[in-house]
Amino acid sequence: MRGSATWQRIVIEAEDYSIFKKRVSLLEDHIGFKVESILHYALSARDSYTLEHSNRVVSFSEVIGNHLNLDKHQMDVLMLAASFHDIGKIGIPDHILLKPGTLSKEEYEGIKAHSSIGANMLRTLGNPLLDEVAECVLHHHEQWNGKGYPEGLEGERIPIISRIIAVVDTYDAMTTTRSYRRQISKQDAMKIIESESGKQFCPNAVKVAIEICRSGEFPCQK
Ligand SMILES: [Fe+2]
Repeated sequence: MRGSATWQRIVIEAEDYSIFKKRVSLLEDHIGFKVESILHYALSARDSYTLEHSNRVVSFSEVIGNHLNLDKHQMDVLMLAASFHDIGKIGIPDHILLKPGTLSKEEYEGIKAHSSIGANMLRTLGNPLLDEVAECVLHHHEQWNGKGYPEGLEGERIPIISRIIAVVDTYDAMTTTRSYRRQISKQDAMKIIESESGKQFCPNAVKVAIEICRSGEFPCQK
């Protein structure tokens, strides 16, 4: 079994990226470089569920972002952060990521590293927009009441984009079946989201998500 020091090491190693950065520059110079294609391919090769989940998170997040009147730049960051919020799961071993059943405390600590790993992966690309995306990816498991991770940020200190993704991520996880748990109905999932407004989730993001579901603009009640 791997100790928590190992997880810390993975996160730190991801920050040592100067050689990788040089290779990215070479790719850009010689063949053009489609960051999004490569990251998508990496996600699907690692775990097809994560890619499908991410695509659904993008769709629902987009509608919520538009209702919250995010500007064009914020919407770009939202779409990319929603796409790659779980990209760090590439760094989580199969025996934890795909484990049927409950995770041990240590395994759960391992899973928690995915938000930092993902943020570090995006930062390695040295692009200002992706740096913003990385910040939102880093905080997508923070909770409104400060009980989330990795930094225990509270309320509006959590980026709005991370707060949107947190709602949609949880909704999608609850309404799809995984090896370790069964899905629940969309209506029940929305009830749980609503009950966590002001606790786990940003009240404004929950309010808008509920309005969107009730209006039928996104099929989250059917
Ligand atoms: Fe996540």
